[in-house]
Amino acid sequence: MNIRRAEPKDLTKIQQCNLHNLPENYHMKSWAYSFITWPEISYLAEDSSGRVVGYVLSSMWVKVAHIEPDEEYPWLQVGHVNSLSVLRTYRRLGLAKRLMLLSKKAMIESYNIEYIQLHVRKSNRAAFSLYSEKLGFKIHRKEAGYYGDGEDAYSMRIVLKPRS
Ligand code: ACO
Repeated sequence: MNIRRAEPKDLTKIQQCNLHNLPENYHMKSWAYSFITWPEISYLAEDSSGRVVGYVLSSMWVKVAHIEPDEEYPWLQVGHVNSLSVLRTYRRLGLAKRLMLLSKKAMIESYNIEYIQLHVRKSNRAAFSLYSEKLGFKIHRKEAGYYGDGEDAYSMRIVLKPRS
């Protein structure tokens, strides 16, 4: 198994992995935009034949902070995990955890982020366990009807630099 940064040349293979694993699919333009704009923070796992068996696609968001009037920086940078998946036959080997930790490390090293956020389906026990039990994410809030089919999402965060 080879784990490395995802690059624009990997687009088609990553999209195939995404189509196998998740109902939330992304247009090629969206994958390409992320890889070109934030090349450090998305990763993939490939088997010996070069097939992508898992990936994490991340991006950076800028938000307006809720600040006191005399605070100096009204903007905060936030890491956002857009999509994570691993092919069924490669699950429970620790791949998703490794991909998430690589993306997190790269976000911290490359950007001045205050927290990392993601959304997960309320019914997605596997992903929810990974985020909460293995990676330290906490539920920030529930977002009713977030997904296209009406399912609720948990918006989850891991805070890296708490504002005092
Ligand atoms: N049931 C319960 N807990 C689980 C499960 C499961 N089926 N799978 C993983 N976990 C938890 C466990 O705590 C596990 O640790 P353990 O094996 O020591 O018990 C931990 O997560 C780490 O598991 P990994 O092996 O790193 O996870 P894996 O590589 O199997 O991938 C993933 C997990 C990505 C959720 C995979 O099941 C998958 O691709 N599912 C379909 C797509 C999906 O749901 N993606 C996430 C959507 S949310 C988003 O993209 C932001």
